[in-house]
Amino acid sequence: MRLPVGCKVIGVGCAVPTNVVTNAELTGLVETSDEWIATRTGIRQRHIVTAEESCSSLAIEAAKDALEFSGITSDAVDLVIVATSTPDNLYPSTACMVQAAIGAPQAAAFDMEAACTGIIYALSVGQHFIALGTYRTVLVVGVDIHSRFLNWEDRNTCILFGDGAGAFVLQASETENEILATYLRADGKGGHLLHIPNTGAGYPHGGVPAAKETHRYLQMNGRAIYEFAVNAVPEAVRAVCAKAGIRVEDLDFLVPHQANKRIIKAASERLGLREEQLVSNLDEFGNTSAASIPLAFAEAITHGRLAPPATCALVGFGGGLTWGAAIIRWTATDQRLKNEVSEPAELPL
Ligand code: ACO
Repeated sequence: MRLPVGCKVIGVGCAVPTNVVTNAELTGLVETSDEWIATRTGIRQRHIVTAEESCSSLAIEAAKDALEFSGITSDAVDLVIVATSTPDNLYPSTACMVQAAIGAPQAAAFDMEAACTGIIYALSVGQHFIALGTYRTVLVVGVDIHSRFLNWEDRNTCILFGDGAGAFVLQASETENEILATYLRADGKGGHLLHIPNTGAGYPHGGVPAAKETHRYLQMNGRAIYEFAVNAVPEAVRAVCAKAGIRVEDLDFLVPHQANKRIIKAASERLGLREEQLVSNLDEFGNTSAASIPLAFAEAITHGRLAPPATCALVGFGGGLTWGAAIIRWTATDQRLKNEVSEPAELPL
């Protein structure tokens, strides 16, 4: 289907808490080791929020970073979509908090929840609003602070996650289209494999007995999620490439959800991708859920790994179960760098 209006991706940004927790520090909480965590997951440290930080504070910081990258002012934003599973409150939505903080008085705002795949779902929804001509400028944020929902006595889960936020700015274009295709999937039958139960309206008023307190923590069947992910990633990438009319071998970069280096390695081998095509930063940030893809994308640009023009596949998977992918033709450059005035050379006295 040819969409009536093209969608450019004009900005990307991110934010993480300053507080870093290393693998060595986790050995004081659970029986584990830096060696076990690094070998099994690729994670060496993660950023964890302090009491002063929140899901909304990270989302706002990432949104401002992405807007500054794009060079547009916040009053141009028509819609704010925030993908998160860990909002500060059931409402107001995190998107409304972002809309107020950045100053986008004309913008509509809502949250979406598709766990770690949330940013792919949000990109797809944002693109469709633009393609239909409803909105011209859409700010899409992925943010999660799973640290508030982890059982820090459970070594199976507490080592995996970090907190963070990432954002993209989408803009309508009559001549170009840079989100070539999106592909979204779900399998609700696998919901029990990765879940945070008893945290919504299913959590009875007055709380649950103390013995069941752990039931409000993230719970995961690690083996089953691993099996799901190594199949879902190649399936989604092949499907989205087919929709976009490109071959997998035409991709310059794969930006996968940053859950585990063994998942990324196994999935990319199935796709026949080389290591230099993979964008990964989970050693430094761990699994930041809905934030991980834009966070990895923004970081790769900052470090000069990902330079325009580049055809990139973004692929996510997570609770729900959900999975999905998007193809982005990346051409944007950081407008802050253009605006930088070069310092006059120091004259000899
Ligand atoms: N330190 C030391 N030992 C550990 C730790 C730890 N942190 N965690 C588990 N172990 C132990 C287990 O207790 C088990 O011991 P046992 O044999 O005495 O019972 C042993 O290590 C092996 O455990 P397994 O679960 O079989 O280890 P596995 O090799 O499968 O690795 C892991 C576990 C890393 C969790 C793997 O299953 C995995 O990567 N799964 C995918 C997880 C994931 O990425 N989830 C999130 C994705 S979706 C999203 O992002 C929301």
